[in-house]
Amino acid sequence: MNNPQLNHRGELQHLLSIEGLPRDILLQILDIAESFCGVTEREVKKVPLLRGKSVFNLFFEPSTRTRTTFEIAAKRLSADVINLNIAASSQTKGESLLDTVANLSAMQADLFIVRHAQSGAPYLIARHVKPHEHVINAGDGRHAHPTKGLLDLYTIRHYKKEFTRLTVAVVGDILHSRVARSLIHGLTTLGAPEVRVIGPQTLIPAQVGALGVRVFHDMRAGLAGCDVVVMLRLQSERMRGALLPSAQEFNKHYGLSSEKLSLAKPDAIVMHPGPINRGVEIDSSVADGPHSVILPQVTFGIAVRMAVMSIIAGN
Ligand code: CP
Repeated sequence: MNNPQLNHRGELQHLLSIEGLPRDILLQILDIAESFCGVTEREVKKVPLLRGKSVFNLFFEPSTRTRTTFEIAAKRLSADVINLNIAASSQTKGESLLDTVANLSAMQADLFIVRHAQSGAPYLIARHVKPHEHVINAGDGRHAHPTKGLLDLYTIRHYKKEFTRLTVAVVGDILHSRVARSLIHGLTTLGAPEVRVIGPQTLIPAQVGALGVRVFHDMRAGLAGCDVVVMLRLQSERMRGALLPSAQEFNKHYGLSSEKLSLAKPDAIVMHPGPINRGVEIDSSVADGPHSVILPQVTFGIAVRMAVMSIIAGN
């Protein structure tokens, strides 16, 4: 089957999902991101790889981390960055998504970074842009958040050095999580032997086993011996109906406390995509504690997004 992300030479044309991306491309992104981490630590943090290119940030859903780190990453690659203010744009007058993109394309866009509540919106745009234009999915509905998955893979490799001996637990609202789906695809492609998902039955998709994961409803059993614990935010904005008795009840069974974390390996790392709900899926003692790598994840996101943009649009 044709992969809409790859050009006829098998190179990245767009980044829409980690699913279906070859291992070599994932490793290429992580390796190039590592070299950009050096750039982000220099006094002069710029390289000219995207000089003269225009990057349009199109965020139809709110974002703090992804939008800002894409902007920083594009500027460090010397691109011009345009942040479309969706709330003040002609979308409010009924302009369609594709008409908006066509008009921005007429302003000589090179790269569209797209976040949208509708799964598949970045795919739709990618099918309609000009051959020299590129689309990066910055999170579409419940479907995928590939650069988040990549920065999670980067973080895991940074602290654990490799994937092939790791036990990774992803905990909480798997059902609504594009972050979980992207990370699971990445981990299985890179050879992680045991990926666990932990949560209540109502927040775990029925077919999740097909992704190659083990399902646990008992958090204590699922955390035992883990190297990496990835906590997820409860996505109440995507929930239809009562999937949970209460946030307090969820915290009791699936919130990460220091006591529950002690069941994982002593050198386990704790990750979270943000924003965190303190006292719901994670206690402050863990979020701010010695196992937490939540803020380093954000920093690595800059280098990972520099790597993706330079690979896609750097020629
Ligand atoms: N995790 C994540 O994508 O964060 P933002 O919504 O702030 O971009």
